[in-house]
Amino acid sequence: MCGIVGFNGKNKAVDILLDGLSKLEYRGYDSVGIAIKEKDIEIYKAKGKIVNLKEKIKDKELNGTCGIGHTRWATHGEPSEKNAHPHISNDGNVTLVHNGIIENYQELIEKLHKHGYTFYSDTDTEVLANLIDYYYKKYKMGPIDAINRTMVRVRGSYAIVVMFKEYPDELWVAKKDSPMIIGESKDGMYAASDVPAILKYTNTVYYINDMEAACLKKNKVVFYDLNGDVIKKESKKIDWDISSAEKEGYEHFMIKEIHEQPGVIEKTIHSFINDNKIVFNNIDRDELKKIDEVYIVACGSAYHVGVCAGYIIEDLSRVSVKVDIASEFRYRNPIFRKNEFVIIISQSGETADSLAALREAKKMGAKTLAVVNVVGSSIAREADYVLYTLAGPEIAVATTKAFSTQLIVMYLFAIELSRAKKQIKATEYKELIEEIKLLPDKTKYILDNEVKNIQKIGDKLSTFQDAFYIGRRLDYAIALEGSLKLKEVSYIHSEAYAAGELKHGTISLIEENTPVIGIISQEDIYEKTISNLVEVKSRGGYILTISPKKIDISKVSNYEIHIPETYKYFYPSLIVIPLQLLSYYISVSRGVDVDKPRNLAKSVTVE
Ligand code: M6R
Repeated sequence: MCGIVGFNGKNKAVDILLDGLSKLEYRGYDSVGIAIKEKDIEIYKAKGKIVNLKEKIKDKELNGTCGIGHTRWATHGEPSEKNAHPHISNDGNVTLVHNGIIENYQELIEKLHKHGYTFYSDTDTEVLANLIDYYYKKYKMGPIDAINRTMVRVRGSYAIVVMFKEYPDELWVAKKDSPMIIGESKDGMYAASDVPAILKYTNTVYYINDMEAACLKKNKVVFYDLNGDVIKKESKKIDWDISSAEKEGYEHFMIKEIHEQPGVIEKTIHSFINDNKIVFNNIDRDELKKIDEVYIVACGSAYHVGVCAGYIIEDLSRVSVKVDIASEFRYRNPIFRKNEFVIIISQSGETADSLAALREAKKMGAKTLAVVNVVGSSIAREADYVLYTLAGPEIAVATTKAFSTQLIVMYLFAIELSRAKKQIKATEYKELIEEIKLLPDKTKYILDNEVKNIQKIGDKLSTFQDAFYIGRRLDYAIALEGSLKLKEVSYIHSEAYAAGELKHGTISLIEENTPVIGIISQEDIYEKTISNLVEVKSRGGYILTISPKKIDISKVSNYEIHIPETYKYFYPSLIVIPLQLLSYYISVSRGVDVDKPRNLAKSVTVE
C-alpha cells in the first residue's frame, strides 16, 4: 500500500524523504512524489520507481528542510504522474500526501464544484486538499480548525501529512484507520506510515490515534483532539535495530528473513517463558479459565496460523475454536458464546479487515487478544490484550519470520489455555514447553542442511504452471501456507487441498508430471495421506514430500525433503521452512521480483 514520509528539521529534507520512501518500497507502489519547502513549495513526481524521481531531480538544488513524500499504490485513478501524490489545492494553499480511501469523495467533489473548485486528477485525495483549503478560507481559524472540520466531513480511511503555504515551518498530520507514527530526534521531527522509514534517524516515536491531529514543528510535536484542544502524549522507544531492516549481504529480504527464523523464534519463545512457565503478562489463568469458545480471525498467512492453532487448541484444550478470514467475519454477523475470546493475528497490526473484525468483536462484547508484530500498531492498541511476536521488521512482502513467530505464540496460548482448563497435567505442560524450546535449533538444522537440495528441486519445478499441496489436519493447515507462498512469489498457480478431499474433484487436474507436494508429519494419519499420494502418482503426478525421516515414503515420493522430529503439534514450524525455501528458489529461478511481487502490498490497509 502507499507509503508516507514527512520531515521538518535541520537537515536537507529531500535526502531523508527519498531514503525513507526507499525503506517503504516493500509495501508496493506504482508512482512516487515529494514536496519540499524551498522559496515556495516545489512538487516533483514520477511514474514507476523512486529511481525515476531521482533522475528527474538530479540537477535541482533542493536545500529545503521541510517536506513530504509519498509512494502511491493506485486505487482511484491509474498509476500516472497526474495521480501521484503530493496533491495540491487549486491556488496552492494546501499540499498533502494521503494513504487510505475517501469513500464520499464524489459527493465532496460536487460540493466543492459549487464553490468554484476544479480538479486535475482522478484521485480521491485531491478532494482532501481542496476541502481543507475550503474550510481554512471559510472559517479563517488556521490549520487545526480546517483539518478537524475536514475529518468530521469525510468518510473512509486516511493518514495525511499537510503543508500550508502560510505556515511554511510546520507539517500537519491527521489520521483515521490508516497507520501513521511521528518520530522525534535532535535533528527534527518525522512522520511516517511505517517504522522502517525513519528507523535510521530515530527510535523515539509517538502514536497518533484516530481523529487526532499533530503539528510537527522543527523541534517538537503538538497533538490536538477533535475539539482543537492540545493533548499530551508520551513518546515510546522502538527496540528494532536498524540492521534488521537492511539486506546485510543477502540477495533478497525474503531469504534473509527466512534465515533469521531460528533467532526470532528463540527470542519470541523466551519473551513468554520464565522458569519453565508461560507468562502472558496481562492475561492470567483465571481469565483463560472463563473462555467458552475461541474465535481466531486474520487474513492471508496470519489466517493460516489461525487454522493451525485451531487444530491444536481444540485437540489440546477441548475448547471449541472457529477460524475465519477477517473480511468474511466482519460482515458475517457471527454467533458468539457467553465468554467468547477473539484472537486477531496480524504482522502489521494495520490490516484494514483485521482491524475492522477486531472492532466488530469488541462491539459484540467479546474479549479480544491481538497477536501482533508491530508494536503500537492499531490492532495492538485497540485489543483488550496483546501478545507481541518478536520477529523484528519484516520487509519482504511474503511473510516468513512473522508467520513462524505467530505460530510460537499460538502454541504457547494453546498450552496455557489447556493448563487453565485442566486438560493437561503439570508434567505434560513442562514437556510441551521443553519441546518448543528445541524448535530454534531444529529450524536451524533444516536451514543448515536442506538449502542446496531445495534450491535444486526449486530449479526443476520452476517451469511448471500448476502445483498442488496436500495434507491432513495440521499438515493441511500448513499446506495452505505453502501454496500461498508459492503463488505470491512465483506466480505459479497452486492449490492446497485436504488430502482426503482431492478425489472429490481436483484430482481431475492431475496430469503427467503435475507437481504435488505431500506434507506428512502426523503419525496417526500419515498412511491415509500416503494412499492419496499413491492415487496421484498413478495418474502421473510428480510427488515431492516433506516429512520426518522415520516415516518411510520412499516408494511413493519422487523427491523427499526430511525434517527433524518434534511433537505432533509443532511440526508446522519445521515444515514451513522447506515450503518457504521452495517458493523462494522457484521465484528466483523464474526471475520474479521476490521481495515485491506484482500487485501485492505488504500491509493491506484498505478493504
Ligand atoms: O499484516 P498482516 O499479518 O495482517 O497481513 C495479513 C496478510 O496480508 C499477509 O499475511 C499476506 O497474506 C502475506 N502477503 C503473506 O505472505
